[in-house]
Amino acid sequence: MRPDFSTNRIIQGDCAALLVAEIPAASVNLIFADPPYNLSGKSLDLANNQTGGAYYKMNEAWDTFNGADYLTFTAEWLNGCRQALTGNGSLYVSCTQHNLGEILLEAKKIGLKLNNILTWYKVNAMPNITKRTFTHSTEFVCWFVKGKKWIFNYEAVKKFNPHKTQSGDNKQMRDFLDFIELPIVQGKERLRGENRRAAHPTQKPEKLLELVILASSNKMDLVLDPFFGTGTTGVVAIRLDRRYLGIEKNVNYIRLAQERLCRSKP
Ligand SMILES: C[S@@+](CC[C@H](N)C(=O)[O-])C[C@H]1O[C@@H](n2cnc3c(N)ncnc32)[C@H](O)[C@@H]1O
Repeated sequence: MRPDFSTNRIIQGDCAALLVAEIPAASVNLIFADPPYNLSGKSLDLANNQTGGAYYKMNEAWDTFNGADYLTFTAEWLNGCRQALTGNGSLYVSCTQHNLGEILLEAKKIGLKLNNILTWYKVNAMPNITKRTFTHSTEFVCWFVKGKKWIFNYEAVKKFNPHKTQSGDNKQMRDFLDFIELPIVQGKERLRGENRRAAHPTQKPEKLLELVILASSNKMDLVLDPFFGTGTTGVVAIRLDRRYLGIEKNVNYIRLAQERLCRSKP
């Protein structure tokens, strides 16, 4: 049976297999991948914070690998992404110091070119109560390209520059660096369960996706997210007149994303 390649939908299952089995080669303009970081059970639990859960103590089965398995998993899904991308396509991968090494190593092995590592400074990051290290307040987004003719919509990106000229115009990019200041998701944007706790531990800010999608795709392009979670990529893609495809293993998160997408339809 031929795979169904209609867009604006979520496919349930393991992205490492589905990227190859379901997505035609060279069909996707932009991929935003926010994989498991493999940090579960290794962080702190702080009660009474504002994110809807303990700050957030990651302890999820989907985020737990041994070292060798994590490297294999990373190689498999990165390879699937490479295959799915068009020749001028872009792949943005979200990570922290926990998995940056694996991502860079495996992407290099398959010939993806690193254009930038964006640093997301989380202005409301979890306080450091251990007094044993510097406070962790950053995540990274690695921007890889497949060919030489990648899309970079400079004018659209310029609008993200928080620095304005005296007359209020957007400034040039020279003082808008590969450094983005954004809070972790809170308030109305945060999806919550009946117990008012965060419904998903790693929901990404819509603003971050806006930057990525505006920078590296055009209207009606296809944006794929192989770790769809709460559907942040889909919601922003539709808002910006792009098409999306999501892959997600967990049926509860798929339901959450579907409800969110329905609520946010223009
Ligand atoms: C870091 S979260 C992504 C969160 C998402 N960016 C958002 O804004 O909600 C990773 C997601 O990938 C899913 N996942 C983990 N392993 C997967 C796999 N092999 N294939 C597909 N989805 C997977 C998890 O269930 C989880 O929802």
